[in-house]
Amino acid sequence: MMKILLKIQRFNPEKDEESTYQGYTVEVEPTDRILDALMKIKRFQDGSLGFRKSCAHGVCGSDAMRINGKDRLACKTLVKDVAESDGEEVLIDPLTHFPVLRDLIVDQTSFFDKYRSIKPFLINDLPVPEKERIQSQTERMAFDDTTNCILCSACFSACPVLKENPDFLGPATIAQAFRFLADSRDKGFEERLPVLDQPNGVWPCQNHFECTRACPRGIKITKRINETKRMINAHGENEVK
Ligand code: SF4
Ligand code: FES
Repeated sequence: MMKILLKIQRFNPEKDEESTYQGYTVEVEPTDRILDALMKIKRFQDGSLGFRKSCAHGVCGSDAMRINGKDRLACKTLVKDVAESDGEEVLIDPLTHFPVLRDLIVDQTSFFDKYRSIKPFLINDLPVPEKERIQSQTERMAFDDTTNCILCSACFSACPVLKENPDFLGPATIAQAFRFLADSRDKGFEERLPVLDQPNGVWPCQNHFECTRACPRGIKITKRINETKRMINAHGENEVK
């Protein structure tokens, strides 16, 4: 067992003008998750602490937050990943670029509005085959990693471009657009193009790779954004011919 000091950003919209840090000393094992430490605080020290969680296994995307300045899932971050010795401090903040509703809970409306704008579903008006729309393994592999997105918003919080330009479509949104553009069964390129090929669409990405580093699902987001840009350029060249 070891003791760590979690310094957590607190904000209660009903009484606070601005956020402050509150410290909680918690007894943990190095192999506990940061989510376990937060749950201990919530259960035994301060029931008013606000944070989201659901699956506790890296699947639902609810508990993305900043842990020692990095955007991560609390349920996939072990204590020993962020604190090596007894008494060490761990800083916990809400995701950035989103309004804070309370403590570590942010309003993700802008994230989901952008996500919806790229029509994240299969578009294909061709007659439905008798059995299924066949896809080869190679065709499926073209976008495989992007199907793992859990919509946690960690990549949005990590994105330096969104910090300067909140209207940028953002990393997960473009990666999810790519997920369908690269799907051999999808025919929705033209429908998604006006959202992707505009000044705040794919173009503001400057290849910082912060989204790729932050993604808890190992999605090659920056690579997928660049592939989307190439698809749009290739489409434009075909139009000219
Ligand atoms: S791309 Fe990765 S970091 Fe971004 S929302 Fe999806 S899972 Fe989270
Ligand atoms: S609680 Fe579901 S991803 Fe962490």
